[in-house]
Amino acid sequence: MKSPVRKMFDGIASRYDFLNHFLSCYQDVLWRRYCCKCLKKMVAADGADSASDDAQGFARKVRLLDLCGGTGDFANTFRKIFEGRCACKCSSQKETSHGLVVDPAVIGDFSYGMLAEVKPKKIDAHAVQLDAMKMPFAECQFDVILNGFGMRNVPDARGALMESYRVLDAGGYLCVLEFFSPRNFFNKFFYKVLAPLFIPVMGAFFSGKRDAYEYLVNSIIRFLPVDEFCKLAEECGFEVKKVKMFDGGISFGVFLRKPVGTP
Ligand SMILES: C[S@@+](CC[C@H](N)C(=O)[O-])C[C@H]1O[C@@H](n2cnc3c(N)ncnc32)[C@H](O)[C@@H]1O
Repeated sequence: MKSPVRKMFDGIASRYDFLNHFLSCYQDVLWRRYCCKCLKKMVAADGADSASDDAQGFARKVRLLDLCGGTGDFANTFRKIFEGRCACKCSSQKETSHGLVVDPAVIGDFSYGMLAEVKPKKIDAHAVQLDAMKMPFAECQFDVILNGFGMRNVPDARGALMESYRVLDAGGYLCVLEFFSPRNFFNKFFYKVLAPLFIPVMGAFFSGKRDAYEYLVNSIIRFLPVDEFCKLAEECGFEVKKVKMFDGGISFGVFLRKPVGTP
């Protein structure tokens, strides 16, 4: 049977990207870019530490999974940034690929409606329908896993973290970009007072699905605060490499690593 969350994402898929950008005033685009730039630095630095293939003139392949990847925006941003094709002006230095080449990405999501929106974007990726808590992949298949605004929607965050750990190769990164449960006064005011006033109304106006946008606000309040999420990730075996707060805590980028030398 289709879960209510899956049905909800199927129902808003065609308006999802537009509303994401509109409701966040395009901040979601900048947050994804920041996360991908940071990952690029981390992955490039790891290559420089080891006897890199790059030094011998070979490109290093990066195997990417965009988990809860929806319409594929995070994977698309990742590819552009890793291959030095980002058109943004947020970096003064000319971007290079650092000898990194991204394999065709896997965009994994349980909503067929969301995955159907990947195709028109012509991303070099395979869309795979899957459940984040039970993925159809063998161990250690990926070097980087992205999870943009998906963790909060999964019924069991521990299960999704453990499953991500299993399919990630040792030394690989999991980047979770998420709205965590508010902790400070500003965030509590934003999510408990302001957001319930305007997000469901705007969502209803543009997509006709008020329930989905009420769910969005409630799911943020119900989710873990970022520090508890980091503790949970450590319990699942990850090292917390970096936590980046965006816009006063409206969202966070959490960079986790599966320790080198672990099976
Ligand atoms: C808020 S959207 C995020 C989409 C995209 N990652 C982005 O950055 O905009 C959350 C996505 O998680 C997916 N999702 C929720 N629970 C899931 C699960 N258990 N397994 C796989 N995907 C799931 C939904 O279908 C939806 O596409």
